Amino acid sequence: MNIVILSKGPKNYTTRRLQEAAVERGHNVRVINYAKCYVTLEKNNPVVVYNGEEVKNVDIVIPRIAQSLTKYGSSIVRQFEMQNVFTTASSIAIVRSRDKLRSMQLLSKAGIGIPKTVFARETAEFENVIERVGGSPVIIKVARGTHGNGVVLAETKKAAKAVMQAFYVEGVNFLVQEFIEESAGTDIRALVVNGKVVAAIERKSLDDDFRSNTHQGGVGRPVRLSDEEKRTAQKAARAMGLTVCGVDMMRSDRGPLVLEVNSSASIKTPELITKYDVAGQIIDYAVQAAKAGRRKDKIGA
Ligand SMILES: Nc1ncnc2c1ncn2[C@@H]1O[C@H](COP(=O)(O)OP(=O)(O)O)[C@@H](O)[C@H]1O
Ligand SMILES: [Mg+2]
Repeated sequence: MNIVILSKGPKNYTTRRLQEAAVERGHNVRVINYAKCYVTLEKNNPVVVYNGEEVKNVDIVIPRIAQSLTKYGSSIVRQFEMQNVFTTASSIAIVRSRDKLRSMQLLSKAGIGIPKTVFARETAEFENVIERVGGSPVIIKVARGTHGNGVVLAETKKAAKAVMQAFYVEGVNFLVQEFIEESAGTDIRALVVNGKVVAAIERKSLDDDFRSNTHQGGVGRPVRLSDEEKRTAQKAARAMGLTVCGVDMMRSDRGPLVLEVNSSASIKTPELITKYDVAGQIIDYAVQAAKAGRRKDKIGA
């Protein structure tokens, strides 16, 4: 099959591994920098151009879209969808996953455990907002942050109010969340492929940071998920319309709580730590799904 990996970083671990796994299985694979693609549109003829040439005869697209290029990257994915090319993450699911509020709404609708969350912009209501999530300390997140950047722990009501006001004057959308104290500094990343958890790691911050993102210096170790945790990750993936994704969860006193679902999750730490061939599983799934014909997004939000 002809596989295209849409990635800005050909040397990036995940991109390299996906490429390797595809080659091992006898497929043709190209890494295309979506940021350097352009599209042409005319009646019934959606074309993607890269390095001056039309990208043709593609069977599978594997999008690895950076947060900062969500709009442009997803429109390139959409262009392939318009050509009926199978993609491991649909353009609409990518865009959806990049919006924390939209994600929280979908997860809560699907009956999945999440930290209690408030989204507001009325400055006069700040005190009420803090009370609604159980009082300080609270977590405040910008709606489009990633890698732990844009996630703040406000220890006191005063600090929370100041942070919210700062975001407000800057016009940044944010959400206020109950602080999951019992497992602060630790979270679980479950990689889901074809609706099933294929690898899971626990990430722990090394210092006293409450954020466990590996980009913030967190380290990972393999972890055995309970059936409830597996089910939760799988359900979260389904609720977001993603068949290949990374689900972040925290272990709380009331069970697993989903923080976010990543549509371009890195497979680096999970593969290196668990030694599972996640890349191979993604390629196997993509090939089988592409043969079966593409499915429509039915999330409706
Ligand atoms: N409600 C919360 N309570 C405690 N810790 C949290 C909470 N939300 C996030 N964190 C910590 O902050 C990290 C980053 O939060 P997350 O929502 O995943 O944002 P990002 O998209 O920036 O990774 C999480 O991995 C977790 O360790
Ligand atoms: Mg995260």
